[in-house]
Amino acid sequence: MLGTAPSPEALAAADAACFPDAWDAAHYRALCGNRSVETWLLQQPDGAAVALLCLQRVGDEVEVYRIGVVPGQRRRGWAQWLLQCLQAQGCRRVWLEVRAGNAAARRLYRQVGFVETGRRRAYYRDPVEDAVRYRWAPAATT
Ligand SMILES: CC(C)(COP(=O)(O)OP(=O)(O)OC[C@H]1O[C@@H](n2cnc3c(N)ncnc32)[C@H](O)[C@@H]1OP(=O)(O)O)[C@@H](O)C(=O)NCCC(=O)NCCS
Repeated sequence: MLGTAPSPEALAAADAACFPDAWDAAHYRALCGNRSVETWLLQQPDGAAVALLCLQRVGDEVEVYRIGVVPGQRRRGWAQWLLQCLQAQGCRRVWLEVRAGNAAARRLYRQVGFVETGRRRAYYRDPVEDAVRYRWAPAATT
């Protein structure tokens, strides 16, 4: 089941399962107060979290802030499916950035058609690492 208005608590619980630097419920509550921010939560019928996607949509441009799949559900195509759902929604550009060392995510992004557009040197902390920026656009507009 894909929910597009999940509670901040449910998002925080899913986030904690996916990320070492988890965003808490207060952070999600603040994000959900921004009308341009969307949070998608994919759950099993019993409510167990499978995956989440957090993004900001301004006009027909989207910035993906967070995509995560809980460890027991990885390599089943869920992240690819979420990004393909987003791409099917008719946006003109999708942007995101990721730690340079996150090989799994970078391979995922390339697989669904994102192209690398640049780097921000030493952008991340703990540990310090470059951010690699990616962009996707529908074929007709690239
Ligand atoms: C990155 C992440 C979202 C991928 O989710 P997923 O549902 O397992 O990915 P998918 O099953 O849709 O994989 C699609 C493709 O991505 C690539 N990929 C995904 N996980 C990979 C891994 N561990 N190693 C190498 N390639 C990987 C592969 O090309 C894969 O296609 P394939 O299975 O046909 O080889 C997941 O590993 C995760 O939540 N990681 C922690 C959070 C994170 O780093 N998020 C991204 C930054 S916000």
